[in-house]
Amino acid sequence: APKLYGKSFLCEKDFSKEEFVYLIDLAMQLKDEKKHGIPHRHLEGKNIALLFEKPSTRTRCAFTVACIDLGAHPEYLGKDDIQLGKKESIEDTAKVLGRMFDGIEFRGFEHKKVEILAEHSGVPVWNGLTELWHPTQTLADFLTVKENFGRLEGIKFVYVGDGRNNVANSLLVGGALVGMDVRICAPESLFPAPEIVELARGLAEKSGGHVTVTSNVDEGVAGADVIYTDVWVSMGEEDKFAERIALLTPYKVTMDMVRKTGNNEMIFLHCLPAFHDLETTYGKDMYAKHEIPEMEVTDEVFRSEHSKVFDQAENRMHTIKAVMAATLGHLE
Ligand code: CP
Ligand code: NVA
Repeated sequence: APKLYGKSFLCEKDFSKEEFVYLIDLAMQLKDEKKHGIPHRHLEGKNIALLFEKPSTRTRCAFTVACIDLGAHPEYLGKDDIQLGKKESIEDTAKVLGRMFDGIEFRGFEHKKVEILAEHSGVPVWNGLTELWHPTQTLADFLTVKENFGRLEGIKFVYVGDGRNNVANSLLVGGALVGMDVRICAPESLFPAPEIVELARGLAEKSGGHVTVTSNVDEGVAGADVIYTDVWVSMGEEDKFAERIALLTPYKVTMDMVRKTGNNEMIFLHCLPAFHDLETTYGKDMYAKHEIPEMEVTDEVFRSEHSKVFDQAENRMHTIKAVMAATLGHLE
């Protein structure tokens, strides 16, 4: 097994292809152990800080349950609970947390903050989402791909929608790292930043993968094994709803788009939470007031047999557990 002990995980490129695939395989093993009731308390007696500047269902719960399964104690610290760059520098907070905790998870706005935490805390730091990257999500997504197709290399992985967000960046670079045929299908104004595309292309050259960025839906989804989408408006950009609906409506994942892949075995993935139309299923009165319209994916696709979104959500826990066990536990 690769030596990951003591390492932080801030973005996909922190790890080699071998290390990244090892984490996915370790997650598979931990998932199997959990299903069979085999304990794996690799972090017995450790204390883990979970810092959240933004809300979270999956990431928070995955870290919490994974900590407890591994024998560690999780401590949730929300945005109003501690001083983080407000009354105290992030560097000082990092040093203090590092004296008390054995590992730190951080979800927030600026990626720089998670880098400062990693630099100054002296303990492994794991990125639970920043505006730039969402690397623990990529691990869960690729575990789901491996469970469905038995491999990662050569998989035609198409991300459709906002090509500039954290999830798009992570999947592009992560897919290139492990040798996928990874495609971003987005309007030109939402293409990934050139330096991220360049980074992905460099990794794909080494892994035997392919990188495509296109605004053409027909071309983008042809032959796809995976169609992946994310919300059109990420946390922190709530003022952009109208603009994004105008730009991204042609990129909505519909049954018509699914058929365009020409692949009956294709799967649909979404990191969640998702905007799909619940009114059609539950009636207007119950859901209209929650304002959950149909945006990036139709309810039909979301609930179809192609959709593996809840396996994917479960896999957040198994993969996050693998990251913590590998970087903080003493595995063989
Ligand atoms: N996919 C994901 O990160 O979900 P949460 O925002 O609920 O953590
Ligand atoms: N791109 C989304 C992902 C949520 C898990 C966001 O940053 O809000």
